[in-house]
Amino acid sequence: MRKPIIAGNWKMNKTATEAVKLINELKPLVERAKPEVVVCVPYTALWAAGEALEGSKIKLGAENVAWADSGAFTGEISAEMLLEAGVEYVIIGHSERRQYFGETDESVNKRLKQALKLGLKPIVCVGETLEEREKNRTRRVLKKQVLEGFKDISAEDFKDIVIAYEPVWAIGTGKTATAEDANKTIGFIRSLVRKVWGAETAKALRIQYGGSMKPGNAKELMAMRHIDGGLIGGASLVAKDFADIVNYKER
Ligand code: 13P
Repeated sequence: MRKPIIAGNWKMNKTATEAVKLINELKPLVERAKPEVVVCVPYTALWAAGEALEGSKIKLGAENVAWADSGAFTGEISAEMLLEAGVEYVIIGHSERRQYFGETDESVNKRLKQALKLGLKPIVCVGETLEEREKNRTRRVLKKQVLEGFKDISAEDFKDIVIAYEPVWAIGTGKTATAEDANKTIGFIRSLVRKVWGAETAKALRIQYGGSMKPGNAKELMAMRHIDGGLIGGASLVAKDFADIVNYKER
């Protein structure tokens, strides 16, 4: 059985002070959560968030990581820096990074290898745009993102990897893929992984859905066979909403 994992992606929201406030609201609400719970926060809030999370079961995540150990990479943050701040998970290849900051499958692959080398757990994002979907290219796009993004990654490494399937057209738009549709596409991603990395790897791999996931649709999405969690944007900025998603089973 795969343990569900619900992660918040705060994106470029919350100062360190605001992060502490949100975490303190969130903590009591998810105390008895069954899924693994992660909050991925902006770099400047990591230290404060890490301290606020001490003693709680919520894990700390970052939103990106550099591919190099250290050196002349202005504006980048290394895996070692993240680890010292108490980070366990890191989002890699979010569609907003691909769309606005030139992230490619190749750079995703480099960041992924670095995260694994240093012992961070990557949440690797894949997903098609609206145009790609309308041209019936979803599977082709996902195949490329998976094969190139995970190039030279071993089956062993997959133990620490989470994939987030986020259809770009569903992010922040209020449009969600139907649960059946998301399940089918995530099933396709799992079958790709099976072909390259084997049945055991595919069976154990956790794949999240992301894109306008809310308290109102979490239960239906999470009931699907291939959906093992959620990567939550907007709703993760409101303690009650995020907690209601985390506690989807009890509601
Ligand atoms: P929303 O939940 O705001 O649609 O964002 C999804 C997302 O991009 C999470 O990484």
